[in-house]
Amino acid sequence: MANKKFNWGVLGPGRIAQQFGDALLAIDDAALYAVASSNLERAKAFAQQYHGEKTYDSYEALVNDPQVDAVYIARPHRFHFDNARLCLTAGKPVLCEKPLTVNAVETKQLIDLARAKNVFLMEALWTRHLPIYLQIREWLDEGVIGDVKLLVSTFGINVPKGETDRWLNPELAGGTLLDMGVYPIAVSQWVMGREPHSFSAQAYLGKTGVDELTAVNLKYDNGVISQFSSNFISDNANEFLIYGAQGRIHIHANFWAASRATLMTGDREVTVSKPLRRNGFEYEIEEAMRCIRAGLLESPAMPHAHTLANMELMDKIRTQIGLKYPFEK
Ligand SMILES: NC(=O)c1ccc[n+]([C@@H]2O[C@H](COP(=O)([O-])OP(=O)(O)OC[C@H]3O[C@@H](n4cnc5c(N)ncnc54)[C@H](OP(=O)(O)O)[C@@H]3O)[C@@H](O)[C@H]2O)c1
Repeated sequence: MANKKFNWGVLGPGRIAQQFGDALLAIDDAALYAVASSNLERAKAFAQQYHGEKTYDSYEALVNDPQVDAVYIARPHRFHFDNARLCLTAGKPVLCEKPLTVNAVETKQLIDLARAKNVFLMEALWTRHLPIYLQIREWLDEGVIGDVKLLVSTFGINVPKGETDRWLNPELAGGTLLDMGVYPIAVSQWVMGREPHSFSAQAYLGKTGVDELTAVNLKYDNGVISQFSSNFISDNANEFLIYGAQGRIHIHANFWAASRATLMTGDREVTVSKPLRRNGFEYEIEEAMRCIRAGLLESPAMPHAHTLANMELMDKIRTQIGLKYPFEK
């Protein structure tokens, strides 16, 4: 029997919500149902573009609409906690943009609330669900590159420099670690299947006080090191390399949105392509719907424990680089 159409609600129809709306158009049994914005005209324009039925100028009203099956939160990091808490309290499943919250204390509270309310919660770390990563997992599981020894990645984009925009704005929990660094951290965690036992980090804090360039070495108990940097000030290679004792895997740029990977062992080189069906967001949306329909509270592909461990690590990195947000003091 065909599934009933899954009704999505969107909070904060800004830049990234466009990707979400576009990806929904590629999923047969899902649709944009409702959108809420502090600016009703913005909600209306978004609903028109992606065929939404309802618009609200209040997040509460959307969350309390019984026709909404799940909510996608697309506001800047600072607001994720309050928005997700609002949804979970009302019993609405949540797919929330990365990073799930600003710090681990907030993440822990949301996870506890989701469990207490028996409601699904997932950080929208879309990279985890891209088809090319299934191929990479196969190569890793088959051990074709031997034991993994070193991971090297960059996530650097020269972003617009408006000081009130979310990237540089400390009041919106700006900075490159939470925005971009979360990807190399999450991919390292996925490759290694464990958490690092130590790390060293350095950063350049710009004039608004947030990190515009952060470089980190994560060290694992088996001697593996994951070396990554994230920055807002230069366009980087944005690849992810996994070096093993007998070869390497190259996840092509942009690794967080990858559709191609190359395996190199001895003189053999194989490149595999897994083109995205739409823009890549469709896979995380489908995973969230699959879990919600199955009555799961979390996704095995991006479980609560992974999100929490990553937030704890980013808290510690922020302590080391001296970055505390004004609203945390
Ligand atoms: N997965 C990805 O590839 C990806 C890429 C980029 C960003 N993101 C994540 O998506 C989230 C949103 O990023 P974005 O660039 O889309 O944000 P954005 O366009 O700046 O803002 C999105 C919405 O958030 C609200 N908002 C923005 N600034 C605000 C402020 N100063 N005060 C109160 N509300 C504000 C607005 O909601 P209203 O319309 O209700 O006013 C706006 O429509 C971030 O957490 C980011 O990490 C993910």
